[in-house]
Amino acid sequence: MNDLLIRNATLVNEGRRWESDVLVKGGRIEKLASSIDAEATREIDAGGKLVLPGMIDDQVHFREPGLTHKGDIESESRAAVAGGITSFMEMPNTNPTTTSAERLAEKYALGSAKAWANYAFYMGATNDNIEEIKRLKLGQAAGVKVFMGASTGNMLVDNPATLDDIFRHAPGIVTTHCEDSPMIAANHAAAQEKYGDHIPITAHPEIRSEEACWKSSSFAVELAKRHGTRLHVLHLTTARELELFAPGPVEDKQITVEACVHHLFFDQTSYPEKGNFIKCNPAIKRPEDRQALIKAVAEGRIDAIATDHAPHTLAEKEVPYPRAAAGLPLVQDALCALLELVRRGELSLEMAVDRTSHNIARRYQVIDRGFLREGYWADLVIMDMENRRTVSRDQVLSRCGWSPFEGLTLGATVDTTVINGYVAYEQGQLTEQRAVQPIQFSES
Ligand code: DOR
Repeated sequence: MNDLLIRNATLVNEGRRWESDVLVKGGRIEKLASSIDAEATREIDAGGKLVLPGMIDDQVHFREPGLTHKGDIESESRAAVAGGITSFMEMPNTNPTTTSAERLAEKYALGSAKAWANYAFYMGATNDNIEEIKRLKLGQAAGVKVFMGASTGNMLVDNPATLDDIFRHAPGIVTTHCEDSPMIAANHAAAQEKYGDHIPITAHPEIRSEEACWKSSSFAVELAKRHGTRLHVLHLTTARELELFAPGPVEDKQITVEACVHHLFFDQTSYPEKGNFIKCNPAIKRPEDRQALIKAVAEGRIDAIATDHAPHTLAEKEVPYPRAAAGLPLVQDALCALLELVRRGELSLEMAVDRTSHNIARRYQVIDRGFLREGYWADLVIMDMENRRTVSRDQVLSRCGWSPFEGLTLGATVDTTVINGYVAYEQGQLTEQRAVQPIQFSES
């Protein structure tokens, strides 16, 4: 008996859109064809809906261990599944930080016990763990994460000689948070001079400035060129930095770049309404920057779209701007927000799928995920674009209990999420079926 048969779907995959059934057996896609003549334990009629490969989110902060009042691997991965994310790669700025093989193994054990989507974890870099990084084997982690600018957690790597060593020796992908911390400190001091104790949130993109981003990301690119590093720059926010990256297929690139959903969706005109709820690092910047990022996604200069899901409690947000935590919970609404950009004609559907699934799988050399292909794991999401959703606080699954999209109507609803062939979420409910795996990376 087959596990699952999805009928009458419109598949969106590898630049094409076509009508098809999907037959799933043993957790994998057995067959993609129209009018499949087979029986399955479970049938779903996806007529009028879209079937996409599930999103592989290459940048999330799930806060475990140590920061679990904000969220944990279980709470945040459940929110991710409700948002159509079938695999995630989680960041090391927890407490303790994930900066040794031992800590990484502990995270993988937590993932195995508690994740509700397929999982992988990053090894974090510090000013003094180069030996740990050298010992890391390809495929043991999603990659190495380097905070070249300070953000949540105390993980700034600012010693140029150490950075040089990391870029030279890291196996696999080096991902970077690029903002120049001394420049930010100087901008912050200038804002304090101007506003005293009442710096407004609208100053955030001036403090976390374009210049600070440029200085750091151009240095990261220079280091990667010097050492032939596989660099993936995270959450780009400015038009100016785009010239550091080439357009074209991800397979041809040694240096790639990601944009995040909130930087594609909001711009600084949203600060008066959303306030600290859209405070994040790097900052959401000018409308011209947002438009340039969207254009760069379309031309393949931006290779990947992720969330940078970074929950903080309401109490940590509802304080004056300088003390408010930076970061937004995004996993539950990200795909629907991107489909809102599709609905508005800003992004093509095929492009959104490419950047959230295919290109992540290609870039990280993920084995057998990220595409609707026979033989691949059945990680997919059924999206209903006829049923738009207005986000409200009572629907939020993230432990922090709020969403930056509250009050906004997004372009689709997640109808069903399938992970490794199991229906994990349908019509507004998690099914409590858990069949997840660690993401496997090719070691070539
Ligand atoms: O705004 C952010 N929040 N940016 C980051 O880089 C980290 C994240 C967090 O962990 O809170």
